[in-house]
Amino acid sequence: MEPNGQPIIAVLGLGYIGCVSAACLAKLGYRVIGIDRDVHKVESVRSGQAPFYEPGLQDLVRAGIESRALSATTSLSEGIREADVAFVCVGTPSERNGNLGLDQLRRVVGEISAELSGRTKPLIVAIRSTVFPGTCEHVVTPALGEFPGVAVVSNPEFLREGIAVQDFMEPSLVVVGGSDLRAVKRVAELYAPLGVSACQVSLRTAEMIKYACNAFHAVKISFANEIGALCSKLEVDSREVMDTLCEDVKLNVSKAYLKPGFAFGGSCLPKDLRALTYRANQLDLKLPLLESAMPSNEQHLKRAIELVMDLPSNRIGVIGLAFKENTDDLRESPVVAMLEYLIGKGREIRVFDPHIRIEDLYGSNKNFVLQTIPHIGRLMDKSLDQLLGWADFLVIAQKQSPQAADRIESSGLAVLDLVGTGLTKEGLVAHNS
Ligand SMILES: NC(=O)c1ccc[n+]([C@@H]2O[C@H](COP(=O)([O-])OP(=O)(O)OC[C@H]3O[C@@H](n4cnc5c(N)ncnc54)[C@H](O)[C@@H]3O)[C@@H](O)[C@H]2O)c1
Repeated sequence: MEPNGQPIIAVLGLGYIGCVSAACLAKLGYRVIGIDRDVHKVESVRSGQAPFYEPGLQDLVRAGIESRALSATTSLSEGIREADVAFVCVGTPSERNGNLGLDQLRRVVGEISAELSGRTKPLIVAIRSTVFPGTCEHVVTPALGEFPGVAVVSNPEFLREGIAVQDFMEPSLVVVGGSDLRAVKRVAELYAPLGVSACQVSLRTAEMIKYACNAFHAVKISFANEIGALCSKLEVDSREVMDTLCEDVKLNVSKAYLKPGFAFGGSCLPKDLRALTYRANQLDLKLPLLESAMPSNEQHLKRAIELVMDLPSNRIGVIGLAFKENTDDLRESPVVAMLEYLIGKGREIRVFDPHIRIEDLYGSNKNFVLQTIPHIGRLMDKSLDQLLGWADFLVIAQKQSPQAADRIESSGLAVLDLVGTGLTKEGLVAHNS
């Protein structure tokens, strides 16, 4: 700790992420010691030179060295001796089989551990390298041992090369995760001079968020490129299409549709996806991302069916039959597909949907229920209370109104919530059971 109460920061690994982080943290006024086993990188930083090209980095390194806020060493022992926080920024490259290579991480954590015996000063080890969920728990913490005063947090890095200094100074997202809440808060506070408030989450969420972000970016790019490829075959201006798509910040570029839940269905999404990919095929255009949306949805439905099949119950009450809440449209409802499977497997089922009363149906919906799924029509209860009185387990297949949610809660029945929390085991929300 500095006399002014500011923490001293060690940055382990002076590659693209480590060097940018070290130079930017020094610019924010912290005392920063960069550590790398690569003597050329260390010498370069010591002489005020950025070890690689990154816009703005050269000036920051020179200023950091001149003001003595930044220093560099090849000695990990020397580098972390005075440090309060050690940011681990070593590489985690792909192995040949695609798995994440943790050799550098294991080695550097082993080296930190070797410095801990006899240490009395607390140390926060903040993992900035991209690592899979569980790595801090299963690799970092055990290797560091049970030294008192040592806490591990995950603080993933979201910098983009080529604009990394700007990304550090104007971050799109800062995430700090861990179970030692004081350590999490301490690391989160390091970013306060940037005027951002860090998302403080669990250790595994912090590790996973980096993968979720990068997967999302890759899917966005592939989506835009596939729409672009189809546009050019159809002689449509793809830029105009995507710019217009981005104008919709309510449904398109927004939180909408970005919560894990149940499979999609209805009269539009499946139909329009099929039409799009059929047309692309006719044009000899391969669109693997768009073509994978329907199979992905089917897999998701299959996972839901497996969860229901695993329920320790015969009398399963399903709430929701239409493809989503507040509609009576049954076309391509994934609940219908799920029920057909369950009925085929001999499960005892009854169904309630507040917007579907067989006697009130008309038009295409009535024909669909009476002709295509009469066996499901016969399973419909007239009221939620009727269903709650019969079932010994509930499956929620649509978002519920607050009133319905209260009645379900007070029924005391165990619940499998397919729409609330996603189809993981945590999705099994057993109320009062
Ligand atoms: N490069 C990016 O754009 C980017 C963006 C976000 C996250 N990340 C992640 O950040 C991490 C670092 O990436 P990078 O591109 O900076 O890697 P890099 O390979 O450029 O740098 C890693 C540095 O760590 C040093 N190192 C390795 N073991 C060491 C040890 N035991 N002691 C001291 N130094 C050691 C290496 O010498 C090297 O200089 C990776 O997990 C990566 O996935 C990278």
